[in-house]
Amino acid sequence: MAGMRTYLSIFILILLFTVPGAQNPNNANYDEAKAGTYRLPDPLVMRNGHRITTAGEWPVRRAEILDLFAQEVYGRTPSSAMAVKGRLTFETVSRQPAALDGLATRQEITLRLTNRADGPRMNILLYLPNGRKGPVPVFLGMNFNGNQSVTNEPDVAISSAWMRADNEGRVLNNRATAKSRGMAISRWPLGMILRSGYGVATIYYGDLYPDHAQGLADSIIPHYYQPGQRSPGPDEWGALGAWAWGMSRCLDVLEKIPGVNSRQVILHGHSRIGKATLWAGAQDPRFAIVISNDSGEGGAALARRNFGETIERINTAFPHWFAGNFKKYNREVDSLPVDQHLLLALIAPRPVYVASAAEDLWADPRGEFLGARGADPVYRLLGRSGLGITAMPGLHQPVTTTIGHHIRAGKHDVTDYDWEQFINFANIHLKRPASMRKR
Ligand code: GCU
Repeated sequence: MAGMRTYLSIFILILLFTVPGAQNPNNANYDEAKAGTYRLPDPLVMRNGHRITTAGEWPVRRAEILDLFAQEVYGRTPSSAMAVKGRLTFETVSRQPAALDGLATRQEITLRLTNRADGPRMNILLYLPNGRKGPVPVFLGMNFNGNQSVTNEPDVAISSAWMRADNEGRVLNNRATAKSRGMAISRWPLGMILRSGYGVATIYYGDLYPDHAQGLADSIIPHYYQPGQRSPGPDEWGALGAWAWGMSRCLDVLEKIPGVNSRQVILHGHSRIGKATLWAGAQDPRFAIVISNDSGEGGAALARRNFGETIERINTAFPHWFAGNFKKYNREVDSLPVDQHLLLALIAPRPVYVASAAEDLWADPRGEFLGARGADPVYRLLGRSGLGITAMPGLHQPVTTTIGHHIRAGKHDVTDYDWEQFINFANIHLKRPASMRKR
C-alpha cells in the first residue's frame, strides 16, 4: 500500500513537471511582495564597465551580450551547423492552389537538415494568400502537434515524428493519429491571417528535437558533432537552440520561394516555442519582427524575479532545453551575467512584441512586461520609440511602439485576440497601407 502511494506520488510529480502549463503552486511564489529585489545588468554598460552612449557603439555591446547568451544560457550553435545556411536542399512535395476554399495556395516543402540524402528532414507547411499582387509578408512559427494540427484539411501530411502523449487518442504510442488533424486550429486562425494579406509557414518543432529529456539522440544536434564528439559541451546548444536553428533554416527556404517577401518574415512563438523564437530572432537579423507569446521563464520574463517558474525549476523539469552551463545559475540567479531584457534588446532596432495572459502566472506576466521595459534604453539609443511607457498597462490595452505589448484576460494560450494584435502590429511596422490589409 505504502509502495503504491510512493508510485502515485512519483507519478503526480512527473506529471507536474512534464505537462505544459502544469504548475506546483506549493513550490512557486505567486506573491508580488515576495518577488524579491534585484539589480538588472545594464544593457548599455559593457562587462568592463564602459558605458555605451552612441548608437555606433551598440554593435560591440550587442556582440558581447549575444555571446553571453550563447555561452551561459541557450548554448552555442556549432559553426558546422551554421555553415549549411542556405545550402541544404529542399523540395516541394505537394501543392494545392485552391486550399481553404480557394483562399490560399498551400505547399508542403521538405528540407533536408544535413547534406545526407537519408538524413533528418523538416517539413514546412506554407500557405500564401491567393489573388495578391507581388510577394507577401509571412508569419512563421513552429507548432506543437505536427503540421496537420493547424488545419482541418484532410490532405495535409500527418507528422510521423515523436510526439508527446495525449489522453484523447490524438497521439498514440508517441505518434500522431488522424484524430490530431485540426487539434490546434484555435491557435492558428489561418483565415484571419491570410485574409489580412499574410502568408503562414509552420513546422513541427519535434522535427528538430523531440521534446523530452532523452530526445538528444534523435535530434539534429549529433549530426553536427565534431569528429569524435559524443555529447554537446556545456556551452553548446540544447533543444531551444535546435528549435531556433530550425526557424532560421526555414527562413533560408522562404528566401527561395516565389511569392514570399522574405524581408518581411514575422517570427512568432508560444511558450517554450516563444523562448526559442526570441533566441532565433536575437541571432538572426533577417527576421523582420519577432513575437513572443506567453514565453515566460527563459523567454521574455526576467529571471531575477522570484515569481512563477524559476531557473532551477525549468532546468530540473526540462534538462534538455538550455546549455549545460545554465544549470550553474539554478540557485545563483544574481550571478547570471545577463537577464531576459537583454535578449529582447538583441532584437533592436527591429520591432519585438511581448504578449502575456493575466491568468498565466507561471510565466510571470509582470516579469514579461519588465523584460520589455528593460530593453527600452537600447531601442531609444538606436533612435526607435521603444516601449514608450513605464507602468504596466491594464488588460487589453495594446502598446504598438517598436516594443509592442499586451496583456489579455485568460489563460496560457494563443487566442484570436492575440492574433488580432500581432496582425495589427505587423501592419503598423511593415507600413502596410489599408488597401493591402483586410479583404
Ligand atoms: C511548462 C514550462 C514553461 C513552458 C510551458 C509551455 O509550463 O514550465 O516554461 O513555457 O511548459 O511550453 O507550454
